[in-house]
Amino acid sequence: MKAVVCEAFGGPEVLALRELPDPPPPGPGELQVRIAARGVQYVDVLMLAGKYQFRPDPPFVPGNEAAGEVVAVGDGVTRFKIGDKVMNRVRLGAFATLANAKEVDCDAVPAGMSFEEAAVFRGAHHTAYHALMQRGRLKPGEWVLIHGAAGGIGIAAIQVAKLFGATVIATASTDEKRGACLKEGADYAIDYRDGFRDKVKELTGARDGVDIVYDPIGAQVFDESLRCLAFGGRILVLGFLGGGPSTPRTNYLLIKCLEVIGVRLGGVTEHAPEIGRANTKLLCELAAQGKLRPRISHRFALEEAAAAVQAVIDRAIIGKAVLIG
Ligand SMILES: NC(=O)c1ccc[n+]([C@@H]2O[C@H](COP(=O)([O-])OP(=O)(O)OC[C@H]3O[C@@H](n4cnc5c(N)ncnc54)[C@H](OP(=O)(O)O)[C@@H]3O)[C@@H](O)[C@H]2O)c1
Repeated sequence: MKAVVCEAFGGPEVLALRELPDPPPPGPGELQVRIAARGVQYVDVLMLAGKYQFRPDPPFVPGNEAAGEVVAVGDGVTRFKIGDKVMNRVRLGAFATLANAKEVDCDAVPAGMSFEEAAVFRGAHHTAYHALMQRGRLKPGEWVLIHGAAGGIGIAAIQVAKLFGATVIATASTDEKRGACLKEGADYAIDYRDGFRDKVKELTGARDGVDIVYDPIGAQVFDESLRCLAFGGRILVLGFLGGGPSTPRTNYLLIKCLEVIGVRLGGVTEHAPEIGRANTKLLCELAAQGKLRPRISHRFALEEAAAAVQAVIDRAIIGKAVLIG
C-alpha cells in the first residue's frame, strides 16, 4: 500500500510517501478499509511535532479520520460487509491507502455525502455537538461566541449552534474567513485580533454578553472571553492554539456565576461510549437530512500531505482540508 510516513518529529518536511506492506487481514471485530479520503487537521501538526497528548515514536503513519470502502471483515463483524462505504476513526494510519479499523469506530457514510465530506464529518461535528449541547447545555435563544470559527471545529460549531436555536457571533482573522462564517449561518462575524469585548457587548445589548463561549484558542482570547459572558455564562475550553493553558480570574467567576468547562471528544467516546454512539447516530441523521455538512476548502493528493499540513499551519484552510487518492 501507499502511505505517508512521519520519519522523525518535526514539521511537514518529515513526511515522506513510501510503499509499505499491506495491513494484515482484519482481526476479530475489525474491518479493512480502502481509504478514499482523509482529513488533515491541527492535531496532525501537533502529532508530527511530538507535542500531542498521544505521542507515538517515529516512524509512524499519521492521520486519524478517513472514509472509504470495506474490502475485508474480521470475525464477529455484524454491521458491515465488503463493499460498504464507511467513515472510520483510527488512532493512527489514515494517511495510507489501506487501514484496519475497529467496527465500533466505523459508521456508514450518511446518504448523499461524498467520501471527502464523510472523512472529516465525525470528528469536527461530534466535537461541536458534544461541546455545545452536552458540556455547554445550550438552550434555544441563547447567544454563543465561537472563536476559531472558520476552522474545522469552528465551522461545525456554527452549524450545530444555529441548528439548535442559538444566535452566533463568530470570530475570524480575515474578511474571507468572516464571509465564510456568515455563509455557514453565523449571525455576526467579527475580527478579534485587536480586541472583541466591546463588539460583543454592543451586539448583545441589554443581555450584556453571551451565554456560551466556544474557545479552541485560549491565552488572551480566553481572558478577554471571560469578560464577554453574561450572568451565568459558560466558557468551553477546547484547545490552546494561542499558546498554552490559562488561569481563570476566579473573581470574575464568582461575581457573574460563570462556569469554565473542559471539553475533550475522547471524554465522551471513551468514558461514555453509549452516549458517543447516540450522538453519532443523531449527527448522521441530521447530515442525511442535509442539516449538517462539512465545508472543505482544500483538496490535496496523498503525496502532497506535507503541503496540506503546511496549509493548516499557515491558517489557510477554511473548514477542512482533505487528502484524496
Ligand atoms: N477538545 C477537543 O475535543 C478537540 C477536538 C478537535 C480539535 N480540538 C482542538 O481545537 C483546535 C482547533 O482545531 P481545528 O481542527 O478547528 O483547527 P483549524 O482548522 O486549524 O482552525 C483553527 C482556527 O483557529 C484560529 N487560530 C488562532 N490562533 C491560531 C494559531 N496560533 N494557530 C493556528 N490557528 C489559530 C485560526 O483562525 P483565524 O485565522 O481566524 O484566527 C484557525 O482557523 C486545535 O487546537 C485542536 O487540537 C479539540
